[in-house]
Amino acid sequence: MKFSVQPGGALVGELRVPGDKSISHRSIMLGALAEGRTRISGFLEGEDALATLEAFRAMGVQIERPARGEVVVNGVGLHGLRAADAALDLGNAGTGMRLLVGLLAGQPFDSELSGDASLCSRPMGRVIEPLTLMGAHIEAAEGGRPPLRIRGGKALKGIHYELPMASAQVKSCVLLAGLYAEGETAVTEPAPTRDHTERMLGGFGYTVRRKGSTVSLQGGGALRGCEIDVPADISSAAFFLVGASIAPGSDLLLTHVGINPTRDGVLTILRLMGADITLQNEREVGGEPVADIRVRHAPLRGIEIPADQVPLAIDEFPALFIAAACAEGQTVLRGAQELRVKESDRIAAMAEGLSTLGIRTQVLEDGIIVEGGSLGGGAVRTFLDHRIAMAFAIAGLRAAQPIEVLDCDHVATSFPGFEQLAAQAGLHIESSTG
Ligand code: S3P
Repeated sequence: MKFSVQPGGALVGELRVPGDKSISHRSIMLGALAEGRTRISGFLEGEDALATLEAFRAMGVQIERPARGEVVVNGVGLHGLRAADAALDLGNAGTGMRLLVGLLAGQPFDSELSGDASLCSRPMGRVIEPLTLMGAHIEAAEGGRPPLRIRGGKALKGIHYELPMASAQVKSCVLLAGLYAEGETAVTEPAPTRDHTERMLGGFGYTVRRKGSTVSLQGGGALRGCEIDVPADISSAAFFLVGASIAPGSDLLLTHVGINPTRDGVLTILRLMGADITLQNEREVGGEPVADIRVRHAPLRGIEIPADQVPLAIDEFPALFIAAACAEGQTVLRGAQELRVKESDRIAAMAEGLSTLGIRTQVLEDGIIVEGGSLGGGAVRTFLDHRIAMAFAIAGLRAAQPIEVLDCDHVATSFPGFEQLAAQAGLHIESSTG
């Protein structure tokens, strides 16, 4: 599938983007491990989160989907999972795989985890290392890549792990293994990363302690089923925040968006660039802060992106580079080497597409310099990365000529219905096969 985007347009009106991917994955995992039922609303029915849902069904958990966005998980308790008949296929989802491997390391049975070509090229050594220190036995393919084979029946012991990189997936993986470990499991992070696992464990009645940059828990407790209202995903909202900012005449209200302070770097960065963003109706929903976000067109200027914002906006850089391309002057990003090991190498992928559209960039090992300019048109490659596809689609709002975004199938991993919602808001987008 490809997107054909005609130049121009403005984003206006009110819309709600689909549920948060990170929270959706976790809601299934913790719901499955809880005692009793967990009712989830606002669940992201994207391929990534559905792959996690199917993985737990394959391990004997009864999960119902009574209506759109609604899921009921009949928890089996921490020790109620059973071995799946075949390898678990996590599709494109790094979060699904990295969190699951932690949880499976403490099971009495063997498991195998696999995924698509993108996932099978991503580094898993970062989770294998701490789990091995805890006593787990995990085999990977060459270079620490999936598929992963996890030997069950290993007694895990708690560790205090200093994360070598700011990664919520690694932190969460170790904490989930910690549920099965003897004693205390603690993780210290070099910079704040998304804390949905910690918040949600609390919601399930499990005690998690935070002291400075260290989170810890004791193994051997129990989770109680609960209700989860998944907010709209700020990472999906980001395409509209950028789109409305760059397109003259835009005035858009994005409702019920999660604004967890470990995820709000995109708001901070866009505001530093001069964006007109206001939060309305701020509230807390099931332990997560939520707001309606109003965004109106504003002229943007290039900035040096503050280093402390990088982990807080890690998934939003494809969209932010489009903002940078439309800004006056230079935008400099450093300290973002993690972008090279996402669903694609997002620095290389964005640099290539921006160059096709006539924007000058300088690629750095750990970032990029984007020179603001005028977007032309052309055919851009996505490297099968959902966020690269959506970033170049919204670029059409300020392009002088049509943009063809090739290979957009993966958009469904995080944002099913993106083209329809974007078209409804005012983007001149059509999708076609081929
Ligand atoms: C995620 C954490 C981030 C993010 C990913 C989702 C999560 O990855 O990029 O899309 O749900 O924990 P890292 O923790 O590897 O940075």
